[in-house]
Amino acid sequence: MNEQTFQKKILCIGAGYVGGPTMAMIAAKCPQYLVTIVDINAERIQAWQSDDLPIFEPGLLELVKQARGRNLVFSTEIEENIRQADIIFVSVNTPTKTFGEGAGKCADLQYWEKTARSIVKAAESDKIIIEKSTLPVRTAGAMARILNSNGKGLHFEVLSNPEFLAEGTAIADLQSPDRVLIGSRENESGRQARDQIVEIYANWVPKERIITSNVWSSELSKLVANAFLAQRISSINSISALCEKTEADVQEVAYAIGRDSRIGSCFLNASVGFGGSCFKKDILNLVYICESYGLTEVAEYWENVVKINEYQEQRFVQNILHSMFNTIAGKRIALLGFAFKADTGDTRESPAIYVTRMLLDEHAHVVISDPQALKNAKSDLRDCPDLVEYEADPYRAARHCHAIAIMTEWKEYTRLDYASIYAQMEKPAFLFDGRNILDHRELFEIGFNVYPIGKTPLTHFT
Ligand code: UDX
Ligand code: UDX
Repeated sequence: MNEQTFQKKILCIGAGYVGGPTMAMIAAKCPQYLVTIVDINAERIQAWQSDDLPIFEPGLLELVKQARGRNLVFSTEIEENIRQADIIFVSVNTPTKTFGEGAGKCADLQYWEKTARSIVKAAESDKIIIEKSTLPVRTAGAMARILNSNGKGLHFEVLSNPEFLAEGTAIADLQSPDRVLIGSRENESGRQARDQIVEIYANWVPKERIITSNVWSSELSKLVANAFLAQRISSINSISALCEKTEADVQEVAYAIGRDSRIGSCFLNASVGFGGSCFKKDILNLVYICESYGLTEVAEYWENVVKINEYQEQRFVQNILHSMFNTIAGKRIALLGFAFKADTGDTRESPAIYVTRMLLDEHAHVVISDPQALKNAKSDLRDCPDLVEYEADPYRAARHCHAIAIMTEWKEYTRLDYASIYAQMEKPAFLFDGRNILDHRELFEIGFNVYPIGKTPLTHFT
């Protein structure tokens, strides 16, 4: 690789679910730029350099292979790469704070700030710094202050460019985003930096989909987008509880309301609850920001989105318990799926974690199956090694179980031979479809007692 021939040197700090795929797409689409990704985690970097990538994402390996060794580099040399970069994307994690003021709600910015300080320390020239991580509104201001108190006479222009990709569809989302959002300061230096970032995306994203705004709008839009998406799920999940009491069918209700073009049909699938690294964290962050500005009612409004999600997870387990004659102690329950959604191995905030723990509290014996997430599941449940079994094969997982619960909407679970699964189970056999992906009537006819979300159960009990 001859570094002199590249038009720009782009660096990304943080080789996670966001940084890795995003930079792989930029590198694949822009062979004229050198794209380097660094991370403090050497094992992760090594995995990015191999064919066994640290994250599972359909199409990602092909994309990485297209550019790796050409203009895409994974490295642990953080300082040297900071020195060389023209543009630095920061994509380190911003988890919910677990200590001190704002614990449990506000974003923990320590990694972001440490990264800003290492940029200041290593830099020898002006740079554009881009917030790729999701951050509280007005963080860019604090970052600019840290970066520009450098004593070296260097100027750092801080921009916000939040990432809206969803896991499982990351490559398609990056290839053809609904929009790219770039927030900058509204002065000459801000506008110049913004134009440089627009130019990167314009290599493959139509210009009309590249939106620009002020920095604060951009930072806030990311939190609000996730809050609105999660709010739709909590809204339909709240209605699923009412459907179960009234013989209405939540899928029919969702379809009927979704046909109204003002409402739209996306994100109306009732489920065991939403998971993932973003929704809960970002809403709680929004709640904290509102509280800190004294906007109590606004904070409470959004906090209820998270509360309904927790309620939905609890309701799911209560339903299992009450349907199975109020005791599941010693009963085997197979969870099909542990990832927070299909097509990913990611289990962060997966409802399956909470459901497993509640089932264990009832002394159930839990057998976990998932095509991609067993390694993460074992790590999530490492404090209960003897109480849980892991079995990749769903047929074996369900053997001698009293109940199956569908936790993730993996396509393969819709194609299983449920008659043969039923034959191997304890009777009466129960099936709880936490994603409403199966043919409930067919399962009932096989002999299962079927409990979907937001629909009348189909049972053989009189
Ligand atoms: C993270 C945040 O969770 C999200 O809010 C933000 O929008 C983007 O970054 P994700 O990529 O899913 O999302 O996180 P993760 O997979 O944990 O990746 C972060 C990476 O940053 C890790 O590989 C971690 O090792 C690295 N990191 C963290 C650094 O390189 N330096 C640090 O100081 C801290
Ligand atoms: C989300 C946002 O979609 C994305 O724009 C942002 O950048 C990061 O957060 P992600 O968490 O990867 O992406 O997945 P998403 O598809 O949004 O699903 C989140 C959770 O909601 C999953 O647990 C999913 O199963 C659940 N969900 C989604 C539902 O329960 N019902 C739905 O109708 C849609």
